[in-house]
Amino acid sequence: MEEITLRRPDDFHLHLRDDAVLRAVAPETARHFGRAIIMPNLVPPVVTGDDARAYRDRIMAALPSDTSFEPLMTLYLTEQTDPADVVAAHRTGLITAVKLYPAGATTNSASGVRDVDRVRPVLEAMAEAGVPLCVHGEVTDADIDIFDREAVFIDRVLDPMRRAVPGLRVIMEHITTSEGVAYARDGGDSLAATITTHHLVINRNAILVGGIRPHYYCLPVAKREHHRLALRAAATSGEASFFLGTDSAPHVDAAKETGCGCAGCFTASNTLSILAEVFEQEGALDRLEAFCALNGAAFYGLEPNAARITLRRGRPVAYPAKIDCEAGPITLFDPMMDLHWQVADGGAAPVA
Ligand code: NCD
Ligand code: ZN
Repeated sequence: MEEITLRRPDDFHLHLRDDAVLRAVAPETARHFGRAIIMPNLVPPVVTGDDARAYRDRIMAALPSDTSFEPLMTLYLTEQTDPADVVAAHRTGLITAVKLYPAGATTNSASGVRDVDRVRPVLEAMAEAGVPLCVHGEVTDADIDIFDREAVFIDRVLDPMRRAVPGLRVIMEHITTSEGVAYARDGGDSLAATITTHHLVINRNAILVGGIRPHYYCLPVAKREHHRLALRAAATSGEASFFLGTDSAPHVDAAKETGCGCAGCFTASNTLSILAEVFEQEGALDRLEAFCALNGAAFYGLEPNAARITLRRGRPVAYPAKIDCEAGPITLFDPMMDLHWQVADGGAAPVA
């Protein structure tokens, strides 16, 4: 039996939702992860420090009282955001970052930003106070093909924004393209990128070949195979610019298996098994810890978690296809490959 031991990982991009879905999914992440950056795209969104405090309390109430999991809260940037509220919430440790959604880019992004110039005062205050900005990097123009939206965003929005506010620390969330990899790699100390679990595993064929497969539909949408290979090379490189943000984004099955299905892959339960498999395939198991437990913490100015987890390799393990939730079942991401690694201590109980 082979084993690897890592610092307890962190998830730098996670959707926990609210109410019944929160209660169902929060323990899945807390079992394996020390901390997670919590996305603020609730309905209504988490826009003020007071909203973040109330949401953090609801998250903690959904977890066992002895949990060591720490939610790292974010605020949803709008054109009405008050720079002083952001800076005050960050100074007290209530929030860790602010999230920029271009209006209309993804799930619950209607109150997002239409014109980045209109949030310039907030971005300048954040740069000054050292508050990082998490960016959903897709343009929403109807004439831009959905598979090109990330690359066009870098040229038209991200690069001009970073030049206009040079001190701003930026995380390109869930990059999906070789252009995203190249831009993050060249961005210096103030730029980093998260990569999801599922974008290391699927290309766009998973969504469309042999029928429409809604559980592989997420945003940004998976791209061509050469982009997936660029993401795998980046994630397994050990480079400080790249770290894990699972973007585990649960929706009940009824909201995905329908005429207009929601975007999002739910990966919280089996993410570490999948990542270990991917890193083993790439001959990079020795860099798994950098990707999921060291690089992100360093970028955010956090100490790595003191606790450690052990992953063991053995016969293939199977996770339940769905997790139960009072609002309806939630399908777990199926990586379409055997998984040989599982978390040994405190792990989910994969079905043999
Ligand atoms: C996310 C969601 O459902 O909230 N969906 C997704 O496909 N990733 C939103 C997002 O991160 O874009
Ligand atoms: Zn997300």
